[in-house]
Amino acid sequence: MDRLVRIVVLTGAGISAESGVPTFRDAEGLWHGHRVEDVATPEAYDRQPGLVHRFYDERRAALSSVEPNDAHRALARLEDAVGDELLVVTQNIDDLHERGGSRRVLHMHGRLRSALCRGCRRRFEWTGTLGDRPPCPRCGRRELRPDVVWFGELPYEMDRIHDALARVELFVSVGTSGAVHPAAGFVLYAAAHGARTVELNLVPSAGSHLFDEARHGPASRLVPAWVDELLGRVGPS
Ligand code: APR
Repeated sequence: MDRLVRIVVLTGAGISAESGVPTFRDAEGLWHGHRVEDVATPEAYDRQPGLVHRFYDERRAALSSVEPNDAHRALARLEDAVGDELLVVTQNIDDLHERGGSRRVLHMHGRLRSALCRGCRRRFEWTGTLGDRPPCPRCGRRELRPDVVWFGELPYEMDRIHDALARVELFVSVGTSGAVHPAAGFVLYAAAHGARTVELNLVPSAGSHLFDEARHGPASRLVPAWVDELLGRVGPS
């Protein structure tokens, strides 16, 4: 399916930080006094669905007041130049890659603007709230949940991602702490299959030493410079 892919860019919360999207680990991992783990697990949802809906409803609503930044736009520019040779794999549930112009984006942790019916398992584009328990557009049951991957659930698109990682020449990780698997292991998987690996992050991530090259600074500066370099417009930064 992705036979042409030669570059995989993995992104995390850091690429959206300068757009003003709060990361999951902001405020020492607390949200209105709740631990992130208490709002991002299936058990939390079963226990306190109202609380979990409020957390994601707030985040979905906040998307309308943020814009993509130069890092998102630079990846879209790279895709314009290399087409199907680039695949962006994001852990982010925001839609800033798409709004920045990227077309080939896999959301391995799901998307805020999607709802999943626990009754019929169908997924729907969703921009409104879920906390008010709207009926499923297909089966009518009031079982819609955020279509995001919680701790303990399997990420989306893993076959396709591993397939691409086994064939790429270049693997680049942008704005991710390297704390959460399986994404944290992609660098080793790609390297084992012969890829060159680069980290672009504000500070060295937990797995920084696993990369062939690591550059540290804000994504809005590092990513455009790296794209320019790759496209041969300017020399190394
Ligand atoms: N530019 C580049 N990197 C940045 C910037 C920036 N402006 N700001 C922050 N960072 C870096 C931080 O230094 C950190 O290493 O981005 C990383 C963000 O790490 P996390 O908050 O752990 O986010 P992420 O790695 O995406 O988390 C992975 O964990 O909570 C779950 O499912 C959730 O997808 C998320 C996953």
